[in-house]
Amino acid sequence: MFVSVIIAAGGKGERLGANRPKQFLALGGRTVLQHSIDAFASSGLVNEIVVVLPAPVGTDAVVPSPLVRTVEGGLRRQDSVARGFDAVSPTADVVLVHDAARPLVSRETIRRTIDAAAGAGAAIAASRATDTVKRARAGETGPVVHATVPRDEVWLAETPQGFRREVLERAVALGRGGVDATDEAALAERLGTAVALVESVGPNFKITTESDWQRARAIVEETGVTVPPLRIGLGYDLHRFEEGRPLILGGVAVPYDRGLTGHSDADAIAHALTDAVLGAANEGDIGRLFPDTDPAWKGADSLMMLEAAVARVRAAGYGVVNVDVVVIAERPKIGPHVPAIRARLAPILGCAESAISIKGKTNETVDATGRGEALAVHAVALLAGRAG
Ligand code: CTP
Ligand code: MG
Repeated sequence: MFVSVIIAAGGKGERLGANRPKQFLALGGRTVLQHSIDAFASSGLVNEIVVVLPAPVGTDAVVPSPLVRTVEGGLRRQDSVARGFDAVSPTADVVLVHDAARPLVSRETIRRTIDAAAGAGAAIAASRATDTVKRARAGETGPVVHATVPRDEVWLAETPQGFRREVLERAVALGRGGVDATDEAALAERLGTAVALVESVGPNFKITTESDWQRARAIVEETGVTVPPLRIGLGYDLHRFEEGRPLILGGVAVPYDRGLTGHSDADAIAHALTDAVLGAANEGDIGRLFPDTDPAWKGADSLMMLEAAVARVRAAGYGVVNVDVVVIAERPKIGPHVPAIRARLAPILGCAESAISIKGKTNETVDATGRGEALAVHAVALLAGRAG
């Protein structure tokens, strides 16, 4: 069975009133739209995803994927869905329509809708009413209750809404013929098609107002369904040993009969980490930010450079997840100083000591490091984009 999904993301989000359409707001490190796309893409249940975007938005509004294709939307939701339908593969057996503004849709809800649509011809995800439902009529000073609607008769329509391809084709044609509808099921009903109700599993509300937005944020933060963008960076540094200088590693003075030469305090761990952190966010490198021709950095505490690098990537929206460092030196032994170095670096990197790994290694007497002429450091840093 070939299953397509049209994701309607062509709206303006006027009721939420944010500074951009709600589907492009970040929720746990991804846009609302990307959550919706990923729900289908990761379900393993659909063969293609047609995303309907508002006219002025470029195709970089979605993460490229072989499953995903984008088209331009129309004035009303039903116009957008109609345009999406034109881009659906003619071999599709079942076509789903989903609101981008329902980013929390579960795999089980998607699965049930597909199964029911394949069987019945049309099916929609829906929730049972939990409040007692009243039908109103106009009273003298405002609306008054006209009747109580039996609650077990009331279902609140959501998406996905699924159809056998030919059913949706006729529904879309009806809409194009001038029938107004806020969902595709209403058009299918007009065609006389029985539309099966599928009870949705998990929260599947549409983000429409500010309170919906707050609720969605709370759920995403609480359940940790957020997948922040992760970035890795690599840093390297080497300094020669020289008599009469202190040996500073990771901000800690390590007792030894020689120290490292350099313009600053030559803290090779701080330098390699600075480059790893900057590299992960593609924010340049230590030489560009702190040129050794600048007298301001002569003899400088290199932890200030690391601090500045962390501040820079933080301004770009990233935080340090963990770092791993290898110090290559024949002597002195690094191991005994690791706890002090980790304690010194933790507040600067803004992560726990347990996220800072420092290992010493000898070079088996090979090369300059092996002969004890120099000390080298390799470092990797993992950064994560902040949620929301
Ligand atoms: N939609 C669409 N094309 C339109 C209008 C709406 O694809 N011309 C999409 C929206 O992007 C949303 C879904 O249909 O994912 C449900 O619509 P709604 O919640 O009404 O979203 P908006 O129209 O964007 O919001 P508002 O009505 O508050 O402006
Ligand atoms: Mg709307």
